[in-house]
Amino acid sequence: MKEKIEQMCNQAKEKIAEVKKSNELQELKIKYLGKKGEITSILRGMSELKPEERPAIGSLVNKVRDKLEELIKEKENEFKQKEIQEKLEKEKIDITLPSTKIKRGSKHPINRIIEEIEDLFVSMGYDVVAGPELETDEFCFERLNLPKGHPARDMQDSFYITNEYLLRTQTSAVQARTMLAKKGIEPIRMLCTGKTYRREDDATHSHQFNQVEGLVIDKKENNVSLADLKGTLEVFVRKLIGDNLDLRFRPSYFPFTEPSYEVDVTCFKCGGKGCALCKKTGWIEVLGAGIVHPNVLKINGYNPEEYGGFAFGTGIDRLAMFKYAIPDMRYLYANDVRFLNQFDRRDID
Ligand code: DAH
Repeated sequence: MKEKIEQMCNQAKEKIAEVKKSNELQELKIKYLGKKGEITSILRGMSELKPEERPAIGSLVNKVRDKLEELIKEKENEFKQKEIQEKLEKEKIDITLPSTKIKRGSKHPINRIIEEIEDLFVSMGYDVVAGPELETDEFCFERLNLPKGHPARDMQDSFYITNEYLLRTQTSAVQARTMLAKKGIEPIRMLCTGKTYRREDDATHSHQFNQVEGLVIDKKENNVSLADLKGTLEVFVRKLIGDNLDLRFRPSYFPFTEPSYEVDVTCFKCGGKGCALCKKTGWIEVLGAGIVHPNVLKINGYNPEEYGGFAFGTGIDRLAMFKYAIPDMRYLYANDVRFLNQFDRRDID
């Protein structure tokens, strides 16, 4: 009996050592350790043994069973490890592969400039506000000291929806809205950017364009003066377009400011020497500005005896043309990708 057991044990050990596949190992496990396996049948046969032989055979069988269990477990682990290893090999990700380049869009040059201007004025304590593009005659003209029939309206022919409603010709319309919102008592430092519309269309004018408007109002004793206006516009132009630019105030006329100025900037192309762009003058007209007209203050609820301030406005499209040397304003609206690609997000690539 003892020999038979040892023989069976050796045979089992050999088979386990040779086994190559996990399902074959499972078969061996059943063959030796299963319910109807060899160990069980030996244990069943114990009853035929003499009582004195039973303990020794019993403990031998137990030992053999433990040994075989251990060997099978080891083999099972080996197969498991191998399986994991193979899986890892198969599923290896090559992180050195170059990724597919995704084409990212780019910010439109107008939006870039708008963000730059807004950031700059926020840093100087201005509130950025917005107004409607479909405006009333009242806010676009009347509240800016341009009553119906005023000759200065001719320069700003618009698209009228009705006699009262029009596409705004100027962001100056937001001045009146802001003054009303501040109820004639709060000081104002507002900046507004947005689309404006006029009935004109050529290389330097488009029927739709963008403007920026600034308005500062404060108590008279705080002395908001022309010097403040000049300093503000110098910062504006120099930060946005070029450090070395000078400003020149030329008397002009706008119904909402008195005195009014057109503000020229050193020609960006020739640096002031005179060229075709600046028509040999060395200057380029960029902004309109002035001291807020007492009538405008009065119409919009501010007492001109107590309050005063300045306003300025300019076309963002023109600024973009100067900043990026764009020869024709219509490029800004044609949506030609060859043009827009030049403003790709190279700064973050
Ligand atoms: N709204 C004027 C225009 O469209 C520009 C302008 C001039 C705005 C003088 C102002 C200003 O605020 O004070 O031509």
